[in-house]
Amino acid sequence: MKHIVINFNLMLLVCLLCACNSKPEENTVSSPDGKIVITFLVKEGKACYSVGKEGETVINPSRLGFALNGEPDMAVFEVKKVSCSTLDEVWQQAWGEEIDVRNHYNEMKVELQEKVGEKRLLNIVFRAFDDGIGFRYEFPEQAHLKDFEIMDELTEFAIPQNYPTWSIPAYKGEYYEILYRQSSINQLDTVCTPLTLETPGGKYLTLHEANLTDYAAMNLYPVSGTTTLKTDLTPWSTGVKVYAQTPFVSPWRTLILADDLNQLVNSRIMLNLNEPSKIEDTSWIRPAKYAGIWWGMHLKKYSWEQGPIHGATTKNVKAYIDFAATHHLNGVLAEGWNEGWDGDWVANGHLFSFTEAYPDFDMDELSKYAAVKGVEIIGHHETGGATINYESQLEAAFAYDKKYGINYVKTGYVNNFLDKKERHSSQYGVRHYRKVIETAAKYHIMIDNHEPVMPTGLQRTYPNLMTQEGVRGQEYDAWSKDGGSPPEHTTILPFTRGLAGPMDFTFGTFDFTNSVNPQTRVQTTIAKQLALYVVIYSPLQMASDLPENYLNKPAFAFIEAVPVDWEKTIVKDGKIGDFVVTVRKDKHSNNWFLGAITDENARNLQVDLSFLDKGAGYTAKIFRDAADSHWQTNPYPVVIEEKEVSADTVLDLSLAPGGGTAIILEAK
Ligand code: NOJ
Repeated sequence: MKHIVINFNLMLLVCLLCACNSKPEENTVSSPDGKIVITFLVKEGKACYSVGKEGETVINPSRLGFALNGEPDMAVFEVKKVSCSTLDEVWQQAWGEEIDVRNHYNEMKVELQEKVGEKRLLNIVFRAFDDGIGFRYEFPEQAHLKDFEIMDELTEFAIPQNYPTWSIPAYKGEYYEILYRQSSINQLDTVCTPLTLETPGGKYLTLHEANLTDYAAMNLYPVSGTTTLKTDLTPWSTGVKVYAQTPFVSPWRTLILADDLNQLVNSRIMLNLNEPSKIEDTSWIRPAKYAGIWWGMHLKKYSWEQGPIHGATTKNVKAYIDFAATHHLNGVLAEGWNEGWDGDWVANGHLFSFTEAYPDFDMDELSKYAAVKGVEIIGHHETGGATINYESQLEAAFAYDKKYGINYVKTGYVNNFLDKKERHSSQYGVRHYRKVIETAAKYHIMIDNHEPVMPTGLQRTYPNLMTQEGVRGQEYDAWSKDGGSPPEHTTILPFTRGLAGPMDFTFGTFDFTNSVNPQTRVQTTIAKQLALYVVIYSPLQMASDLPENYLNKPAFAFIEAVPVDWEKTIVKDGKIGDFVVTVRKDKHSNNWFLGAITDENARNLQVDLSFLDKGAGYTAKIFRDAADSHWQTNPYPVVIEEKEVSADTVLDLSLAPGGGTAIILEAK
């Protein structure tokens, strides 16, 4: 990964130049374009901040600080020093929704000291970007604060009005695999972030965090029915939120302030607030498309455990490798290849071995077969949440994978608790996931993590963290009791969970019959399945159906062609919960791809292709719903047609109920 620093010498300029103003009780910093202003103030002795944009209040004065175990709260301070700096740089992503990321902000660091008692120190660093803000706490090394326990983070976000939000509840034990729901701020439960709010003027606010390191994940709840959101950190089983030692920093609290959905999706505040890559040579990190012995288990055609329908047999995996090789897919995931699945694997995760294959899975033979075919085997480490067992095997497991040429590993933590007592989003979970990512990086292994803590942009620092679940993905459409995810689900995700990072959603279903669980099914048309490869971003994308369901299906050509790494992304149109139109430019060609999806309503949309190169000709290969398509009654017809187009073309799209359109815009 290269870092192109445009303007590094602008760092550490004086306050005036970086738009930072200091008065005894009030200090401000504004965004480079001057529109967003963060104010730090001491109100009745308590540390607070507020945020405005273009003269309007976005966050009313809101509390900052901490409650510690066995010590007075850290909240009553006086300002000792305020310093400002600015940065304007462009860095390049190893992979992503775009290549170049501009990191341009003004920073204000407020150094505080308690007025009384032990005069403990706390710094708060604010950064103002053109599209939002971030702030974090620093606990400097000091005489009267060494080892300490955070019982509560007092940070609040006092939203001035009762805007509608999209959220999922915290503490439901389902690793964020819940449908998003709309409600006003004051009616929220304790919810996870990202939390997205829409203003009556059609603008958007998203609250989340960046660089969650050795800390607990942030949740939010409205303070006694008001529109003030207060931080709630996921606790350890002891009740303590965070065990810390000075010097110590918190994650960044982030607030995207976007004028439209395109700006929301293209905000890079979260990535910019993570550390640059610790992996110098990223040439071994490659986005990929994969098939897998997976959907068959969710449909109960195959089993993870040994027995008559065991899925990951040498013979079966070879057939999948052949399929992948023929259809330009880079990898094959094999779940249920290793000892530990027999019996109740969720209860007995400690029995998993990550170096012992089942007798009918010949790792040596398969790795040679895959290498000859030019296909990667994607390893699988389901832990059943038994992290102690997994950590005790981690080095051996990745060494074993490497020995057999495995460069990608999907990890999993199916269990309500890690090691039967700690939450996935606790500091315990955060520490564990980091250890896995760092160890994998040492072995040059890329990770697809299921049942994660909510992502916070760590892929900037560890680009081998490719994608994660942490979303109600397509597997629910195989067995959920509620009939499957409704068509609107995927029109909400890009603007909520998607803002936290890539999602391993695993679409690509072509056959919607479900003999084992007929009560549930994929609630889309085939054309929408295709469009999702553009709308939902991930550098690892699965063609998730059984290979036999792709045979003689011309629509599969779209999945073969769609890239997984992009130069640029634009949300052309959309409304959260209703529809989305996204276009992305391939990183390795001049081709663009368009994905349009709708909820349960049919929709006619017009999309101008002004993003194409002016004066250039393109062939549009269109995969769309038929006139009578409907997700429920007629999901299968896909009309495939070609049109000559240019930057002046305006395309008319007709989306069926639960439908979509996918287009390859091939440069001539
Ligand atoms: C849940 C994961 O999300 C799914 O993809 C996987 O197949 C099962 N766990 C088994 O590991």
